[in-house]
Amino acid sequence: MDLIDPFGRTIRDLRISVTDRCNFRCTYCMPEEGMKWVPRSEVLTFEEIERLSRIFVERFEVDGLRLTGGEPTVRAHLPVLVAKLAALRVPTTSSSPLAGRKPDLSITTNGSTFRLQAHDLREAGLDRVNISLDTLQRDKFLQMTRRDELERVLDGIEAAKEAGFSPVKINAVVERGVNDDEIVDLARWARDTGVELRFIEFMPLDATGHWLNDKVVGQDEIVAALQAEFPLELMPARGAAPADRWRYLDGGGTVGVIPTVTKPFCDDCDRVRLTADGQFRTCLFATTEFDLMKMMRAGATDDQVAAEIQRAVGTKWAGHQINQVTFVKPRRTMSQIGG
Ligand code: GTP
Ligand code: 5AD
Ligand code: SF4
Repeated sequence: MDLIDPFGRTIRDLRISVTDRCNFRCTYCMPEEGMKWVPRSEVLTFEEIERLSRIFVERFEVDGLRLTGGEPTVRAHLPVLVAKLAALRVPTTSSSPLAGRKPDLSITTNGSTFRLQAHDLREAGLDRVNISLDTLQRDKFLQMTRRDELERVLDGIEAAKEAGFSPVKINAVVERGVNDDEIVDLARWARDTGVELRFIEFMPLDATGHWLNDKVVGQDEIVAALQAEFPLELMPARGAAPADRWRYLDGGGTVGVIPTVTKPFCDDCDRVRLTADGQFRTCLFATTEFDLMKMMRAGATDDQVAAEIQRAVGTKWAGHQINQVTFVKPRRTMSQIGG
C-alpha cells in the first residue's frame, strides 16, 4: 500500500540517521564544542531500525533507504545493519522498478574512514555512497570541518571507487566568502576523478546561527561559474531527486546543484526521515516529530506503528518556507536530523 501525503506525493524514500555523533565539526552543521549527544540508550537499536524499515518497505513500498548521521560510519558494526536491511524485499505487487528485490541502500558520509569500511559495507549489500567534500585546499578544509583530514577523505573517495560503488557522488556545500572561489576547481577535480559532483546551497540548519541569506550561493550563480569554463546542457527532469543535473558538452560527465533555497523542489519530494533517537519527521525542516521509539518500546504492534506513520504523513506540509517571514528554523541542527 502506498504512503500518500495530503498533496498527493507518494513516499518512496526513507532517510535513517543511525547516530547524531560525528568525528567532524563542519561549521555549517555543528558548533566547535558543546554538542549534547543523545544518550546511547535512547538511540534506536539495529533491531528497531530493521523493524521500522520493514514496515516502510513491506507495507508502504518504500524502495530506497539511506543511512545518514551525524556521521553514519561512527556507529559500530554498521555492516551488520546494512546486511539486515539488504534482506528486506520490496513487495512483488509494488509499482516500483525494484518490486520483488531489495530496496536501494545508500549512505551519505564524510568519507574520512571510508577506506576502512568500504569493502565490508559493499559485501553487506550497500549499493551507493555519497561523500561530502567542500574544498580541495587543506587549510580551508581545516577551516570548514575543523579537522585536518582532507587527505583521508580523498583516500576514502578512492576506496569507494575501488570497492565498486558507482556512481560515487560528492556533495559540496557552497558558502559565500568561504569556498565559492572553488566552484570551477572542484568541478575540474570531479571530472578528472570520475565522480559525480553536486553543489549544495547552504541551508539554515547550522548550529551556530550564522546562516544568512546572502551567504547562500544560488544555483544560477553556480551554473554561470561552471558554464564560463565548461559548456553545459541541462539534463531532463530530475523526478524526486533533489539535484538538478547538467551534462558537460565535451563528454566529461555530469554535475548537479541541490537548490533548496533558491529553487525549492518540495513539490516533487518523496522522502521522510527517522532521527537517531527514533523521531519520525516528514520534512528536513519540520517542526513536529512523531515518537516512534517510544511507541515501540511501550509495546506497540506493527499495525499501531504503521497507523502512526500514516497519521504523520498526513501532516506533511507542501514545503519549507525558507524565503518567507513565516519560516521557523527547526530546533535541531543538520547533524541531529540526519542530512
Ligand atoms: P541521491 O539519491 O544519491 O541523489 O541522494 P541525495 O542527494 O538525496 O542525498 P544526500 O544525502 O547526498 O543529500 C545531498 C544534500 O541534499 C544534502 O545537503 C541533504 O541535506 C539534501 N537533502 C536531502 N534530502 C533533502 C530534502 O528532502 N530536502 C532538502 N531541502 N534537502 C535535502
Ligand atoms: N546546508 C546545506 N548542506 C548541509 N549539510 C550539512 N549541513 C548543511 C547545511 N547547513 C550537508 C553535508 C552533507 C549532507 C548530509 O548535508 O555537507 O553532504
Ligand atoms: Fe559531521 Fe556531516 Fe555535520 Fe560535517 S556535515 S559535522 S561531517 S554531520
